[in-house]
This record gives sequence, structure tokens and C-alpha cells, in this order.
Amino acid sequence: MNILFAASEAFPFIKTGGLADVIHSLPNALNKLGDEVRLVLPAYRDVLASVDSIKELGMIDVPGAGVRHKVRILKAHEDILGDYLYLIDVPDLFDRPGSPYVRSDGYAWPDNAERYTVFSRVVALLAKWIPKSSWRPHVVHCHDWQTGLVPAFLSMVHDAPATVFTIHNLAYDGYFSHDDFNRLGLPQHWWSPDYVEFYGGFSMLKAGMFFSNHVTTVSPTYAKEICTPEFGHRFEGVLQHLGDKLSGILNGIDLDIWNPQTDSYIAQNYTRDDSVIEAKSVNKKDLLSKAGLPDNGAPLLGFVGRLVEQKGIDLITAMLPQLLARTEANMVLLGSGHMAYEQDLVELAAAYPDRLHVHIGYSEELAHQIEAGADLFIMPSRFEPCGLNQMYSLRYGTPPVVNNTGGLADTVVNVSLQTLSNKTATGFIFNEESAEALFAMVLSALDLFKNTKLWHELCKTAMRQDVGWEKSANEYHNLYRAEVDSRP
Ligand code: ADP
Ligand code: GLC
Repeated sequence: MNILFAASEAFPFIKTGGLADVIHSLPNALNKLGDEVRLVLPAYRDVLASVDSIKELGMIDVPGAGVRHKVRILKAHEDILGDYLYLIDVPDLFDRPGSPYVRSDGYAWPDNAERYTVFSRVVALLAKWIPKSSWRPHVVHCHDWQTGLVPAFLSMVHDAPATVFTIHNLAYDGYFSHDDFNRLGLPQHWWSPDYVEFYGGFSMLKAGMFFSNHVTTVSPTYAKEICTPEFGHRFEGVLQHLGDKLSGILNGIDLDIWNPQTDSYIAQNYTRDDSVIEAKSVNKKDLLSKAGLPDNGAPLLGFVGRLVEQKGIDLITAMLPQLLARTEANMVLLGSGHMAYEQDLVELAAAYPDRLHVHIGYSEELAHQIEAGADLFIMPSRFEPCGLNQMYSLRYGTPPVVNNTGGLADTVVNVSLQTLSNKTATGFIFNEESAEALFAMVLSALDLFKNTKLWHELCKTAMRQDVGWEKSANEYHNLYRAEVDSRP
């Protein structure tokens, strides 16, 4: 089948989180199954700077907020997708530096409603007609709120392809005002709680849920959680109403990029044979030296992620003083995000320079080195639609400590007498969202760490887990097939 992917970020061109990784790796997995996936992205400045052989396919004129935009449709070369990366070039909207969503001061671009409405309008046009090409998608697969209006626009088109909408994170809802709605010239009948209106404004995420033929989210547990008020971000009613139209398909990871056997960022490559522990100790030594921490045999904890409330950073900062006082463990943290969390971490690192290393910023290289060099990976997310980092850590034999939620619950098997003895344990799951519960679980992990034989077994079981895309790509393929077959 032909599938057009529409998304607002994709590794390696532009990335703020796991969405970019999925938009890179899922098409690759689907292509291996025989589908043909083409991807469409906004032509942000960084994307234009990082792709080769750009060709202009055509130029169209599309309404924005009270003005019409001249839009160039570009085709670029991409190693994995071959020639099939389409870029929507509207310099007024996308030729900007840095993050796709926020300005350098951390605030959202004020014209985000217009930016992603124009993008979605163009994607909906491409779904029916791509200049200089006879290729037509059977399915348009849209991701997150930035593409939520694509199924909405396609709902007004005769003989449109089927649409699948994936929610990667319900916390980002593409919520805008009634004024925006009017300025964007969206159809007046959409302004209803039955369509896109949402608590006095309108939500592009809700548009995606309502107008698409099927909605998925990125783990089975999160698919259930979001139908409850605790996790539903006020969408629980809408989501419950979807019934069978909503399902959870677990993300996979790119086994080539996240592969300790071939990873060129790490000091010592390894497989899950008996030399794991020795190889990991070489990587740990390297990480400690880069982090300026002493190489004294103490256990090393790692964290990589966006510094936002979702990730439970405050649980880590609340736990750290006790951890450092009561154990000999050290920790390396890599992340960027909210200024208050960044500041808390920097202050803690200054207070414990021999025990704690904090790198504020983005570093693909250090992320790989932490996965390979840490003994334990800490991921206490309050909610986690799927989470890729815990899967990277499984693959690198670095048992994760995670909260019992979303994709974390679906990918980690908690250590217990039973799971250790039947060799299914892969990490540590705590059940209460508190620094105390996290600390208690880290203490049990450190206890087990002293038992080298059991620890070795745990690392090897973690590395054996099937965290690739094959199974889930098949589920997407079957879903596309079912949607196409059920069309009139
Ligand atoms: P989310 O999408 O919610 O941020 P995921 O665990 O799904 O969480 O994916 C996060 C991705 O972003 C991973 O590939 C992770 O390695 C990467 N990442 C997050 N922060 C950083 C950072 N500061 N430096 C390098 N990579 C990062
Ligand atoms: C979101 C979620 C994360 C998920 C990623 C990719 O950013 O926060 O849990 O892994 O999308 O689906």
C-alpha cells in the first residue's frame, strides 16, 4: 500500500523528542514489509539545510490567516526513504531558526495556528494530487496536533484516502482561540463541541481524533489510560466516545541506530554475550571521564530526556540529596527544557561536583554514551505515552527504573523473585508517583547491583527483548489494510 506520512518533525532533520525517531523508523519498517511510505514535513530552515538534491515540484496558493501564502512543494533526497521526502516551503511560516514550535525564549511561535493550518491544508491537497507524480496514497497517516486538521480537510474531499491519526502525546493539544478559528477561515459548522470546539477554543488534536478514520496512540496501556480523567487532559470523554476507533500500538526503536554492537558514539561495542559487563565497564569509564566524575567503582545512574513536568524531573531532584547522602551512587543527567528544572539541576550539580554531572542541552552522542555507560537508567515519568529511552536502555543492557505508567509499564518487566528466577525481569517498576517511591526502588536496584551474577543475567535479559518495529509495523499495516478495505 501507499502511505503518506505527515508530521512536524523527523530524525535526523529536526527533532525535539521521540516523535522524530518514530517518523524516521516506522516508515523504514513499513517499507521493509512492502508498503511504500512517503513523508511530508514543513520546510523548516534546519531541514532545508540538511537535505540533498532538492527539486521544486510545483507552486500553489493557500489561504492562511487573512492572507494567501505562496507555497512551494519540494521533493528532497532522504537516505532511508530515497527520493520520497516532500517539503512544504512557506518561508514566512517555516524559515526560522531553532525549535519548530517555540521561539528562543521558550514561548510558542504566536502564529502556530496559522503555520500548521497551512501545512495541513497542503498535506490534504497532496493526498489527492502530487505535482509531477502519479503516486497516490491509499492512507494518509497523520501524527500529533500539528497535522490534526489534515483528516478534517480531507473529510470534505470526494474520494479521499483513508486517514489514520496517531496521538503521541495528549498533553500537546494544539489549542487555539475562536479568533484564530475565524481568521483561518475554517468552516463555520466545525465550531461545535461535536467537531473541533473545545472548552471555548478549538483543538487541532481533537480535529484529528474526530475526523480521522482510525486513531491510534503509542502503547496499549496509554490507550486505556487516556480514557480516564487522570490521564485524559480533558479529552477523556471524546476518547471514550471513539470506542473501537481508538487502539494502542506500541512503538519500536531503530535497531540500527540504537545498537551497542555497532554504535560509533561509544568507547566499546558489545553484544549480549558474557562480555557485557566488561564492555559496559569500559563505556562507564569513558562516560565518567567525560563527565568529570571519579572512576571509583560506585554505581552510576543515567537520565536523558526533555526537562518537563511529564518526565518527573522534580522526583529526581527531590531524591538526589538523599541518594547522594545514603549511597555511594553517582549520576549523569542530559536534558533541556523548562528553565526552573534546568536551574535546579545545575545548582545540585554545583553542590555535588564529584557525584553529579548535569549537561544542559541536546547531544545525540552523549545520549548514546549514557545508555551504554550507566548501570541504571532512571525514567520516573508521571505519564509516558510510550517512551523510547527505556527501550534504548534495555537494548544497551542498562536496566531502567520506571514509573508504572503507559509504555513504560508495557515494555519493562519488574524484578521479583519470580521474574528473576524465570529470567524475564528487565528492570524496576515503582507504583506511586513520589520521590520516596522512586528512591525506594533505586535502593532495591542498587542492592541487586551488588549481586554481579544476577545483575549480569538482568542485563542480558534486557538486551534480549524484542524492541524493534517488526511486530508493530505489521499491526499498522493490518490497520491500513482494514481501513482501505472498509471504504465504500
Ligand atoms: P519524548 O518524546 O516524550 O521526549 P521519548 O523517550 O519517546 O520521549 O523520546 C525522547 C527522544 O529524545 C530519545 O531519542 C532521546 O534520546 C532524545 N532526547 C531527549 N532529550 C535529549 C537530549 N537532551 N539530548 C539528546 N537526546 C535527547
Ligand atoms: C511523545 C511521547 C513519548 C513517545 C513519543 C513517540 O513525545 O511523550 O512517550 O515515545 O512521543 O511516540
